[in-house]
Amino acid sequence: MMRYDGKSVLITGAATGIGRATALAFAREGAKVMIGDYNDAAEDTVDAIKAEGGTAAFTPCDVSKRDDVDALVAAAVKQHGGLDAAFNNAGVFPPEQMFADFDEEAFDRTIAINLKGVFLCMKVQLPVMVKQGKGAIVNTSSVGGVIANPGMAPYIASKHGVLGLTRTAAIEYVKLGVRINAICPGFVRTPMTEPWFQREGFLEAFLPTSPIGRPANPEEMSGTVLHLCSDEASFTNGAVIIVDGGQTAI
Ligand SMILES: NC(=O)c1ccc[n+]([C@@H]2O[C@H](COP(=O)([O-])OP(=O)(O)OC[C@H]3O[C@@H](n4cnc5c(N)ncnc54)[C@H](O)[C@@H]3O)[C@@H](O)[C@H]2O)c1
Repeated sequence: MMRYDGKSVLITGAATGIGRATALAFAREGAKVMIGDYNDAAEDTVDAIKAEGGTAAFTPCDVSKRDDVDALVAAAVKQHGGLDAAFNNAGVFPPEQMFADFDEEAFDRTIAINLKGVFLCMKVQLPVMVKQGKGAIVNTSSVGGVIANPGMAPYIASKHGVLGLTRTAAIEYVKLGVRINAICPGFVRTPMTEPWFQREGFLEAFLPTSPIGRPANPEEMSGTVLHLCSDEASFTNGAVIIVDGGQTAI
C-alpha cells in the first residue's frame, strides 16, 4: 500500500521544473495525477508517468482564466473520482527591472498568473473539497514570499500575496476538513532559472549566500509537498515551509 494509492491529485505548472518532478513523485506513490498547464509539453510529463506504470492526464489550462480552471478541476473530479489534494504551482518570472521602470503589462501578467491564478484555483477547488469533507492544498510561494530581492517587484509582491491567500484560506477552511499550506522554494535549477546560470559571475555571486552551497534540484521540493498533502501532516495548516538549504536562515 502506497501513501497516495488511488488518490486524485491536481497539479498546475507540471510541464517542467518543480511541478513536473512533483507530479512524478505523486504518481510513484500511487496517485492519479491531473495536470493543468498552458504548455502542451505537459503531455511529456503524462507520458513519463505512464511509462512508469502510473496514472496521469493533462488538461490545457491557463490558471489566470476562470473557465480554464473550472474545466481543470472538473476534469480531475470526473476522471479521477474526486480531489484529494491540489498543488497550485504554476508561475512565471518576469524580466528583472528597477521598480520605477517595470512596465505595467509585465506587472499585470505576473500578478494574474502567480497570484490570481492561485486565488482562482483555490476558489474552485475548495467547494469540491468541502463537499467531500476533506482535502489538502499546497501553494507554491518562494523565498521571495518572505524576503525581497532587487529587480523583482511584481514577482516578490505576487509571492508575498500567495502567503496571504494561503493563511486566510487555511484559517477559514480547516474546520471544514481542508488543510492549506505553502512552500517557499529557494533557488532551484529549472527552466525558469536556467537563464541565470548563463549569466557570467552569477554562480560565484550566489554560492556564498547559500549555506548548502548549491542550487536545489526540482525533486528536492517534492518530498515536502507530498508530506504536506498527506495524513502525516494532519496538524499542519497555514504553515509556510521554507525549502532553501538555509538561504534565509543567515
Ligand atoms: N526555480 C526556482 O528557483 C523557484 C524558486 C521559488 C519559487 N519558484 C516557483 O516554483 C513554481 C514552479 O517554477 P519552476 O521553477 O518549476 O519553473 P518552470 O518554468 O519550470 O515551471 C513553471 C510551470 O508553470 C507553467 N505555467 C506558467 N504560467 C502558467 C499559466 N498561466 N497557466 C498554467 N501553467 C502555467 C509553465 O508552463 C511551467 O510548466 C513557480 O510558481 C515559481 O515561481 C521557483
